[in-house]
Amino acid sequence: MKFLSRSADQTHKLGYALGSALKSGDSVLLYGDLGAGKSVFARGCAKALGVQREMASPTFTLMQPYEGDGLTVYHFDLYRLSDPDALYFSGLEEHIGSDGVALIEWPQQGEVSPEPRAEVELRRAEDFDSRTIEITLIGMNDRADAIRRALEACACAPAEKEP
Ligand SMILES: Nc1ncnc2c1ncn2[C@@H]1O[C@H](COP(=O)(O)OP(=O)(O)O)[C@@H](O)[C@H]1O
Ligand SMILES: [Mg+2]
Repeated sequence: MKFLSRSADQTHKLGYALGSALKSGDSVLLYGDLGAGKSVFARGCAKALGVQREMASPTFTLMQPYEGDGLTVYHFDLYRLSDPDALYFSGLEEHIGSDGVALIEWPQQGEVSPEPRAEVELRRAEDFDSRTIEITLIGMNDRADAIRRALEACACAPAEKEP
């Protein structure tokens, strides 16, 4: 599924729509350059999962946990990951596919492919505030149709309809 977001607010709403369909054990892998909107999207997901605290960009910590509605949201930002030991201590292995939802920025740094997962790739588009957002659901099985509908019902225009 590919969407075109024209503002940070639309990206947040798309994240919220995805987050509403997530449950414990799910992971969201967020790909895209610096400033692409990964954190904006992640905040939308977290909000839908009941996180009330402001979700900062973790500058020096690779992972920050947040209390959501009956689950924990683990926000990973692996941009500054330096060595495999640090990855281990970030709790990535421990917290993906387990007792909460993992939102992972720069997942390629950690080489993880948990299931079920949503892969979200954000790219700058023609205008300053435009982004294409491609979402792929893997291992979501029976939930995939409902998630697709929720995403399509949200403010972002589909950039390209799937057949
Ligand atoms: N369509 C859009 N979607 C997401 N962010 C946008 C959009 N247009 C402008 N922005 C801005 O781009 C920046 C994205 O920042 P952030 O989410 O922290 O990026 P990342 O986490 O990918 O490095 C924010 O300042 C946001 O306001
Ligand atoms: Mg970020």
